[in-house]
Amino acid sequence: MFRINENYLQLNESYLFSAIARREEKFSALHPEANIIRLGIGDVTLPLPPSVIKAMHKAVDEMAEKETFRGYGPDQGYGFLREKIAEIDFRQRGTDISPDEIFVGDGSKSDTGNITDILGEDNIIAITDPVYPVYLDSNVMRLGNSSKIMLLSCGEKNGFLPEMPSQRPDVIYLCYPNNPTGTVMNRTQLKQWVDYALENKSLILFDAAYEAFIRDREIPRSIYEIEGAKKCAIEFRSFSKNAGFTGVRCSYTVAPKALAARTAAGGEVLLNSLWNRRQSTKFNGAPYIVQRAAEAVYSPEGQQEVGEMVAYYMRNAEMIREGLTQKQWTFFGGENSPYIWLKCPGGMDSWTFFDRLLEERHIVGTPGVGFGSKGEGYFRLTAFNSHDKTAEAVKRIKGWEL
Ligand code: MLT
Repeated sequence: MFRINENYLQLNESYLFSAIARREEKFSALHPEANIIRLGIGDVTLPLPPSVIKAMHKAVDEMAEKETFRGYGPDQGYGFLREKIAEIDFRQRGTDISPDEIFVGDGSKSDTGNITDILGEDNIIAITDPVYPVYLDSNVMRLGNSSKIMLLSCGEKNGFLPEMPSQRPDVIYLCYPNNPTGTVMNRTQLKQWVDYALENKSLILFDAAYEAFIRDREIPRSIYEIEGAKKCAIEFRSFSKNAGFTGVRCSYTVAPKALAARTAAGGEVLLNSLWNRRQSTKFNGAPYIVQRAAEAVYSPEGQQEVGEMVAYYMRNAEMIREGLTQKQWTFFGGENSPYIWLKCPGGMDSWTFFDRLLEERHIVGTPGVGFGSKGEGYFRLTAFNSHDKTAEAVKRIKGWEL
């Protein structure tokens, strides 16, 4: 009889957002009249920016002509996109990242999930709690519920930032602006982690999918703004939330050439080469049309349009913050992030609050405990709905007698 990877049996029965969708569907079937407002999964609602649409149309037309048709592209992404990323996301902001350190992917969910392919099984992996479930699940898939997975608890008293680990981890996942808590790390705090990683020869996997939402200039938008980070960190970026690509799928991973690891025999291996090898074996590159769409994000019009989209969502975050302040509920985030992390009122647990918010206010959010045990008693709202629906949700919450 063939054997399965039994580590899968140690995962929660379903992925968090699938479990939420099922509860919502069940409620909807019983109450078809309910006008449900979705502030749960961080999925965007605004259409793609006009310059992106224009670039996609043009790329589609190119695919219709013999002279301009494209088949397989480079596994790492087309040069036209990697060059724009290096120039605009990094060099113009004072960080020297070169195009061959950038690998275009089909989403940060895949990139952060797949990176485990290049990590040895003996590593001690540090993951914050609460956390974006992909980091934990992708490690449980290969290691099981192993003692090699170390949870760094992030509580209210520490502003939901992790404390330095008491035991040395080999790999540290950090996500800032943070999903789910909406908190950010300032330069000094991030520098502590970079210094720790350099000193302990640990690798930081830095998820910066929400960097476009940072308003405060003192908050670093990339880990490479911190000196030494190119020697200890891989960074993940996404076009999903800033440019509305959740349905289009495009992302990139930065694997600096200064980032080396030691083999058991004492040799040196560049992570850039390993990730390149992994991608060229298991990935045929993001579609040409999608990469042209991503390239358009870097045009002057694209930059302007994306800036407006982000500002639109941040206005929603502000509305939610104002509403919760008036309600005198405790909350975090929403200032440099599209996520607002609130403490469930009256000491309610996360799922009870989820059910009551859905049943009594017809609003879907995300229970904090779904992101880890330290999320129990908390709840995440997103700023990704429309102004109208966000305003209506805030009104419903304000008028709620609990
Ligand atoms: C979230 O809601 O946490 C994110 O949208 C999920 C994702 O980006 O995969």
